[in-house]
Amino acid sequence: LKLGVLISGRGSNLQALIDACAAPDFPAEIALVLSNKADALGLERASGAGIATAVVSHRDHAGDKAAFEAAMDATLRDAGVELICLAGFMRLLSPWFVGRWQDRLINIHPSLLPSFKGLDTHQRALTTGVRFHGCTVHFVRPEMDEGPIIAQAAVPVLPGDDAARLGQRVLDAEHKLYPHAVRLIAEGRARIDGDLVRIEGPAP
Ligand code: GRF
Repeated sequence: LKLGVLISGRGSNLQALIDACAAPDFPAEIALVLSNKADALGLERASGAGIATAVVSHRDHAGDKAAFEAAMDATLRDAGVELICLAGFMRLLSPWFVGRWQDRLINIHPSLLPSFKGLDTHQRALTTGVRFHGCTVHFVRPEMDEGPIIAQAAVPVLPGDDAARLGQRVLDAEHKLYPHAVRLIAEGRARIDGDLVRIEGPAP
């Protein structure tokens, strides 16, 4: 399965996908890393691994989201991308783009959805006093951080945690979860059934 990974910054989840794809038995490869920011650290990770990169800057299409997304869409199609993985991509995608990649577009979010959609999830988890927090990989729908859940990982909230410590624990879980979710899709084991994803085959 050919992946297109969309980033805006650091790219640690991209790195986890690069590392996973390096294993000979992993059923996916990264065809393109696309960033909306030219200085994203993740672009260097991709080039370092010999992966094609592209920058489609929202600034070059100032105020014209349709043109920005059409440029991204063309770039992804030209690269033969079959599944888009959002990995710290910080632009909200329009219903047009989401519809065009319906069921072929996934996101990783740093909370146990449907709790804590949006930003600043670790601090909000601490403020709410939940005892477990975590991360979610889901198919993207037009509403932010909504869509059929493919996989989740929980981590405990521990005494003395601050947002940074808790966030690092979640991030470590993200780096295992994202490749796992991609594998489920690539192996045809994550079947969308209405608002849900049914996982078929043996438990991981
Ligand atoms: C991750 O926490 C991811 O869940 C969220 O944005 C962050 C991206 O981090 N969507 P990185 O760029 O993958 O290091």
